[in-house]
Amino acid sequence: MNKVKTISCIGAGYVGGPTMAVMAYKNPHIKINVVDINEEKIRLWNSDNLDDLPVYEPGLAEIVSKVRNKNLFFSTQIEKAIDEAEMIFISVNTPTKTYGIGKGMAADLKYVELCARQIAEVAKADKIVVEKSTLPVRTASSIKRIFAEQKKDFNFSVLSNPEFLAEGTAIKDLLEADRVLIGGENGEAIQALVDIYSAWLPEERIITTNIWSSELSKLTANAFLAQRISSINAMSALCEKTGADIDQVARAIGTDSRIGPKFLKASVGFGGSCFQKDILNLVYLCRHFGLEEVADYWEQVIKMNDYQKHRFAEKMVNAMFNTVNGKKIVFYGWAFKKDTNDTRESAAIYVADKLMDEQAHIHAYDPKVNYERMLEDLSGLRTRVEEKNTELLKFETDPYEAAKDAHAIAILTEWDEFITYDWQKIYDSMKKPAFVFDGRNILDHGKLRDIGFEVSAIGKS
Ligand code: NAD
Ligand code: UGA
Repeated sequence: MNKVKTISCIGAGYVGGPTMAVMAYKNPHIKINVVDINEEKIRLWNSDNLDDLPVYEPGLAEIVSKVRNKNLFFSTQIEKAIDEAEMIFISVNTPTKTYGIGKGMAADLKYVELCARQIAEVAKADKIVVEKSTLPVRTASSIKRIFAEQKKDFNFSVLSNPEFLAEGTAIKDLLEADRVLIGGENGEAIQALVDIYSAWLPEERIITTNIWSSELSKLTANAFLAQRISSINAMSALCEKTGADIDQVARAIGTDSRIGPKFLKASVGFGGSCFQKDILNLVYLCRHFGLEEVADYWEQVIKMNDYQKHRFAEKMVNAMFNTVNGKKIVFYGWAFKKDTNDTRESAAIYVADKLMDEQAHIHAYDPKVNYERMLEDLSGLRTRVEEKNTELLKFETDPYEAAKDAHAIAILTEWDEFITYDWQKIYDSMKKPAFVFDGRNILDHGKLRDIGFEVSAIGKS
């Protein structure tokens, strides 16, 4: 097979955008088209003002500015992009189904199937189709069926190449990937993809497997990572009852090289678009294959995460004399983690919702999230009418202004700037007693107590 000269990627989201930017940067001889049905998103990817890019990631704007309109192009011309490319990545969203069979559990594959059908219809020559989206194991066989039905006299090769980047560190994760995983059957197609990654990664980090192992490895990796967070969060509840300190416990166990220090940070609960979705999907698959015990085992990771979010909100209400009705509670942070503008499944949404049920007045500040996004997140829960959400959730642009006359401050995201705030100034402007609920254990609690705050943190009594 000749070297790939043109790549197209369908889906210009949190994965498609950064992944293709890095691929283009490291393969200047390859033209890469990133296409999406969302015109507004494409307009923003093409914006002259790099602050407007639809995805915020440290280092992304710099790379985009180097390659955009040189060998990286963003457009809505999907058919043209399919026609032009020898290799096509499918990087569309695969959310949890909200209807029908598998509702609330299975991955909704309608966007992936639409892409496959469109590729099958438009293609006029051999194509390598790469599953970049996270998919249930054996999805590749459905995609192959769609191609086979076209009965065209050229080849479609399907590869699985799941993405392991984490938001907030996407560029670093892509540039210095621990590994790249490629699953497939066609040796030439696999080699074509290996060639692209080996432009910047040593070959020993490029793992090749059969296609089903590749698809399942992605779900397994996310399940294991989320399981560690739920495990440490389970222990945080016990710490709060016993006087043990969860950060000390995490440090003590993390030095065991068999356990390791990463993903042991207790928190208000994990968020993000993937952990919950992928574990629910795994649970659904296990039940489908009659593996009830395996399904129950993994489902517990989600239940523990829900418990942690509810527990945090309840602790706030209890500490504030069992009522937050009419009280001003300031949220520092709304994104699901620092250094991203993504809020999908953020713990902040669920904690806010619970407090709003108690008639609290939430004032939210986040350096990268706007009010529209926050309201959309809440309306997605369908707990109350939109007017009520607007009444109970206010948006703040200045963290000090926000704190004025507040009863409490809750840290929902671990943004670095929160650590360096003038907490004395914040305390002076608040109602007393002034509460701080540190859902990320990032603040200096001793110092806050010296100032006069009532401090409550995760896994600390
Ligand atoms: P996203 O929602 O940010 O982006 C998906 C994009 O696909 C959207 O812009 C949407 O408009 C577009 N799209 C949907 N259907 C389309 C179609 N038929 N034609 C053209 N465009 C279409 O999603 P994401 O976060 O980038 O995730 C994409 C996939 O990657 C998911 O399967 C996810 O599980 C997986 N993943 C995500 C991350 C992450 O950190 N976000 C990491 C690893 C893997
Ligand atoms: C996660 C995985 O880390 C990626 O490898 C994977 O590619 C991605 O999901 C995906 O498939 O979408 P991401 O969700 O972007 O990445 O971010 P993480 O760093 O994993 O954080 C997820 C959530 O867990 C965040 O809310 C974070 O605050 C929380 N977290 C993380 C903790 O509460 N404690 C920790 O120790 C680590």
